[in-house]
Amino acid sequence: MASLFDPFQLKGVALRNRIAVPPMCQYTAEDGVINDWHQVHLASIARGGAGLVIVEATAVSPEGRITPGCAGLWNDAQTAAFVPVVQAIKAAGAVPGIQIGHAGRKASANRPWEGDDHIAASDPRGWQTIAPSAVAYGGGLSKLPQAMTTQDIARVQADFVAAAGRALEAGFEWLELHFAHGYLGQSFFSAHSNHRDDRYGGNLENRSRFLLETVAAVREVWPDHLPLTARFGVIEYDGRDDETLAESIELTKGFKQRGLDMLSVSVGFSTPSANIPWGPAFLGPVAERVRNETGLPVSSAWGFGTPELAQQAIQAGHLDLVMVGRAHLADPHWPYQAARALGVERPSWTLPPPYAHWLERYAA
Ligand SMILES: Cc1cc2nc3c(=O)[nH]c(=O)nc-3n(C[C@H](O)[C@H](O)[C@H](O)COP(=O)(O)O)c2cc1C
Repeated sequence: MASLFDPFQLKGVALRNRIAVPPMCQYTAEDGVINDWHQVHLASIARGGAGLVIVEATAVSPEGRITPGCAGLWNDAQTAAFVPVVQAIKAAGAVPGIQIGHAGRKASANRPWEGDDHIAASDPRGWQTIAPSAVAYGGGLSKLPQAMTTQDIARVQADFVAAAGRALEAGFEWLELHFAHGYLGQSFFSAHSNHRDDRYGGNLENRSRFLLETVAAVREVWPDHLPLTARFGVIEYDGRDDETLAESIELTKGFKQRGLDMLSVSVGFSTPSANIPWGPAFLGPVAERVRNETGLPVSSAWGFGTPELAQQAIQAGHLDLVMVGRAHLADPHWPYQAARALGVERPSWTLPPPYAHWLERYAA
C-alpha cells in the first residue's frame, strides 16, 4: 500500500513524497512580474517538506490575468523574476512547478479581499474580457466578454505555447495547464459558457477542441522527460453531473493520447448556481473514477489538509498526489508536522539536512 511519504516518480521527475502544494494566487504582482513576497511565500513553503510546489495561476497574456495583481509569463522581465524563485524551491528539496492559464470571462476582476467581482467599466484598471461566447458568468462577474474569433483562439493557443517555453527557460520542471474553475479552458468545454456553432462549440468533440489542441501544441515544446499536467473541473454539481463526468472522462482520454501525464481533478465553477457538496476530501472518489477509467495518474485538492485525510487518500488509492493548499498557508511545515502526527519514523526526512539533523537530534 502506498503512503503519503513514499517518493513519487512522474516521467523523469522524482518527488520526495506525495504532498503537493497547489497553485495559490497571491494577487500582488505588478504588470505580471512577481516580487519579494512571492519569493518569501514560495521558498518558505518549499522548505516545509512538500514534494512539489506549483506556482500560482500565471497568465499567458495581459488579458488572461484574473486580477491586475496576477502573475504573468508573456515577457522577459516576468521570466527573469521567476528564476530565483525556481532556484529557491529547488534548494529546499522540492520540485518547482507552475500553472499557466487564461482567465477568459472571469478576468479583469478585483482581488478577493477587494470584492472578488469584476472591475467597474469606468475603472481604467479593468480591460475587455474574451470568451468562447458573449455570455457573462453572472453574479458579481457579470461583465460581458467578447466572443473569440478563430484568430483569437489561435493567438491564445500560441500564447500558451510561448508561456510554456518561458516556464522552461525559467527552470520549471513541472507544467500545469489551468483548464479549470470557469476560466478560458473550462469555458470552452462547458455548455454554460460555450454557445458557439462553429468547430469550437456544440458537441463534445467541438467543445473539447480548444483544450486538446492546446495540450498537443504545448507538448511539442515542453520536454518529454518533464511532466505536463492539467487542472480541469470534471464535474459542475449543476444537476447534470453524470453526463458531465462521462464527457470529462472522454476528454481526459484525449488529453492522455496527446501526451498529458497527470490530471489535477477539480470542480468546473462554470455557473454561480452550482450546489457543491463541500466537505472533507469530497473529490477523492471522483478523482479515483477518472483514474480508473482513463489510466491517467490523478491529484486533487479541496479539503485534504489534515494528515489523516491526506494519508487516507493515498492509501485508499483515490489519488496519486495530494494537493494541500490553505493548510500550507497556515503552516509552511505542514508535511513535517503531518509526518509527526502520523507517526512516520524519522519525519525529518522531509526537510533539508541543515534542519533535519537538528530536529532528529532534539526531537521532542
Ligand atoms: C489564496 C488562494 C489562491 C488560489 N489560487 C489558485 C490558482 O492560482 N489556481 C488554481 O487552480 N487554484 C487556486 N486556488 C485553489 C487551490 O489551488 C486549492 O484548490 C484550494 O485551496 C483547495 O485546497 P485546500 O482545501 O487544500 O486549501 C487558490 C486557493 C487559495 C486559497
